[in-house]
Amino acid sequence: MDKIVIAGGVPLAGEVEISGAKNAALPIIAATLLAPGEHRLYNVPPLADIRTAKKLLGLMGVTFEDGEPLVVDSSRLTGWMAPYETVKTMRAAVLVLGPLVARARQASVSLPGGCAIGARPIDQHLKGLEAMGVKITLNQGYVEAKAKRLHGADITLDLPTVTGTENLMMAATLAKGTTRLVNAAQEPEVTDLARFLTVMGAQIEGIGTDVLTIHGVQELKPASYTIMSDRIEAGTYLAAAAITKGQVTITNAPVPYMAAVLEKFHEAGVRLSTTNDRIMVEPGGSLIGVDVKTHFFPGFPTDMQAQFMALMSLAKGASVITETIFENRYMHVSELKRLGADINVTGNLAVVRGCKQLQGAPVMATDLRASASLVIAGLAAAGTTEILRVYHLDLGYARLVEKLSALGARIRREAA
Ligand code: EPU
Repeated sequence: MDKIVIAGGVPLAGEVEISGAKNAALPIIAATLLAPGEHRLYNVPPLADIRTAKKLLGLMGVTFEDGEPLVVDSSRLTGWMAPYETVKTMRAAVLVLGPLVARARQASVSLPGGCAIGARPIDQHLKGLEAMGVKITLNQGYVEAKAKRLHGADITLDLPTVTGTENLMMAATLAKGTTRLVNAAQEPEVTDLARFLTVMGAQIEGIGTDVLTIHGVQELKPASYTIMSDRIEAGTYLAAAAITKGQVTITNAPVPYMAAVLEKFHEAGVRLSTTNDRIMVEPGGSLIGVDVKTHFFPGFPTDMQAQFMALMSLAKGASVITETIFENRYMHVSELKRLGADINVTGNLAVVRGCKQLQGAPVMATDLRASASLVIAGLAAAGTTEILRVYHLDLGYARLVEKLSALGARIRREAA
């Protein structure tokens, strides 16, 4: 297993280009199951999760031709099962459930179970599908779904789940009649999927709002689409630039979707300016501790909580961080403490008291964003930080070591 070794203390400098969004690419790849034919997807990020998604759809008879665009041929559907081995490594595998029942009228998808950041049930996905006429049974850890043609339904989600909204929206595109999805997730990645579905011929109203109205159509057509760029990757480089007091331009950033994050960095004293697709970070005064509470979009994303905490560990004063989306998303805290951060967690609150300097140490990556926070802290720490279990980073950050090296970071990957 590889590790990442960082010699910290170098202010980052230069330009970094943001890749396509993992959490938009995954549902969009799943959505190709809805329409037989050749789809062309641009800006698909080169990530381990994307390779897993391709393998999963491969089990269903879908073929892929790598390149720009990624060509996805979903003409033949020969399987409808997402096995445990795949779902346990990538929870987003559950996204095949909606498209499969809509097109093949059946699906067998392993229940995801818990993961490093919490229990993460899929009850809302199942409740919505049942309302559309899908018969769901549980068999040996698998959700077995069967349906005749789905019918439209009025569904109010208990909470605006991202992949739940995506699954139900995809299923509803081929249902007979109209589906109203109330309390839908408004995350930009849900919007990106809705746009892709629209290019395929789906009829969706209320895109980007919390009420999606989907008029089912008889069939969808294959489509060409460019995936949005990754707001969390952009935020991660922003944190890396800020913590090293660097001068960095982040290009291809989805700035209009980053308001809550940019606002918090600004409040924390980070000097930044933006255009529609660029963020310019300048070295400025000292970092100030600010409070952050994660929230569904348009609030501050849980996927930026760990990275922001790393930044706050070097701010002047205290910062109270409240995690409201996942119950167990503080796995990075004990590792950041190993680098000298002063953090106390009570329930879902973390109090971070800024310190003067972090010190490099060996640390363990536990999940994708936790790992990113350790990289950010390591870039600022004195001495050497070694991050073990870096496969977590491969799931969600395209060419991380190359991109940071190009900004002048002393970072390398080596066999542990
Ligand atoms: N929830 C339920 N029941 C459900 C579904 C969700 O109780 O049926 C709860 C979850 O347990 C959680 C909350 O609702 O407490 C929100 O979960 P959500 O379903 O929105 O999360 P997700 O769809 O599983 C996506 C992203 C995550 C991101 C969250 C929140 C993808 C593939 N994953 O997960 O991304 O953290 O939304 O924004 O889109 C990451 O990229 O590192 C990552 C974990």
